[in-house]
Amino acid sequence: MTNKSLNKLEEDVMGFLNEVQLNFPEAISMASGRPEESFFDLQNLQEYINTFVNFRSKETNVSTEAFLRSLGQYNRTKGIINDIVAKYLKNDYQIDCSPADIVVNVGSQESMVLSLLSLMNRDEDVFCVEDPSYVGISHFALINGYETAPIAVDAEGINLEALEKTIEATKQKEKCVKAVYVIPDFQNPTGIRTPIEKRKKLLQMAATHNFMIIEDNAYGDFVFEDVAYPTLKSLDTEGNVIYLHSFSKSLHPSLRMGVMVADKVFEDGTKLSDIIAKIKGYTTVNSPAIPQAILAGVLLKNNYSLQKYNEEKCRNVRQKRDSVLASLTKYINASKETKLQSVTWNVPEGGYFLTLTLPFKITKEDVTACAKNYHVIFTPMSFFHLSKGGENQIRIAYSYVKINQIETAIENLVHFLATKITNT
Ligand SMILES: Cc1ncc(COP(=O)(O)O)c(C=O)c1O
Repeated sequence: MTNKSLNKLEEDVMGFLNEVQLNFPEAISMASGRPEESFFDLQNLQEYINTFVNFRSKETNVSTEAFLRSLGQYNRTKGIINDIVAKYLKNDYQIDCSPADIVVNVGSQESMVLSLLSLMNRDEDVFCVEDPSYVGISHFALINGYETAPIAVDAEGINLEALEKTIEATKQKEKCVKAVYVIPDFQNPTGIRTPIEKRKKLLQMAATHNFMIIEDNAYGDFVFEDVAYPTLKSLDTEGNVIYLHSFSKSLHPSLRMGVMVADKVFEDGTKLSDIIAKIKGYTTVNSPAIPQAILAGVLLKNNYSLQKYNEEKCRNVRQKRDSVLASLTKYINASKETKLQSVTWNVPEGGYFLTLTLPFKITKEDVTACAKNYHVIFTPMSFFHLSKGGENQIRIAYSYVKINQIETAIENLVHFLATKITNT
């Protein structure tokens, strides 16, 4: 009766984690990739709207009253703040693009949906996605019946040899890899950052094999080691990258603001951003004007850059990462269970997540047992894999947990792992 593709989703992983949290409310969650609420800038919303209204009314000679009223109306499909966003992307990410190639969406989730709807044909094309990856896009692709190929992630991001093999195998089947989704900066779920050389190689591959790269930069505002790497989009000279930028982590998720840059011009002169706008007209019609006005106000007040605005938030997430790393070392070294010494983890250079690799497998039942008996919730890495994989890894999300709870959470988690390892 309903969409048969839903059967391809193994289980409702987010529903499961919510259920665990509801059943064990005292458990500290290291499962949620939410931003910390104490930084939400919600007191000044009217001021931000006024800043934008005054800016536009001066520019257009429309009265402030009339311009404010216009925010209650349906609006331009691609957005009403594209010029302001273009200056921000240039300042903070060295991305050069025309406002006409930007589409302002309802979060990056809508940008993902529009990217796939504008590119993919069900019977001809294959969508490649890092494995493990963000299920927001991989599950949308599956629900929509798009052929989706998982590509392994190694210590430096998407594995290019595996991608090459999939491209060749797809050609053999007389199909083509149309799009490749990557999160080069502090990937969700692994926390890995892709080195610059590899970014360049991926761009070369896109040009050689004629596919589009969908670059999701949800965590690029949270760089801990000072040096930001250039985004794929800033290195892209051929329009082969669709760049997705979310404001959920740097402002707040309920704003539901994400922007995409899609400056590809196809051989027949068609512009990808125009195709996307056409499809958006049949999905969300246009993005709500009021959140756009708030976002534009924040950007205008901060001189088209969020680097200073986010400094404190970034420092806070970094402190949390440091606390996770220090606590892991402290409690694993202190444990009487010597087998725990083979547990390893990466040191993320930014973002919200870190991967723990264990000498045994972790199941859904372990999540419940750990929440019940040790009062900590984590996510098995296997939840983010499309195919098999990640059975002996867990994702630690440190963004949302209170800084003063981290040491207890990690101490308890290590006790849980010690018990588990002893019994394995
Ligand atoms: C990699 C990635 N992309 C996109 C999103 C969602 O972005 P938005 O809230 O803008 O839809 C998330 C949210 O956690 C994410 O981890």
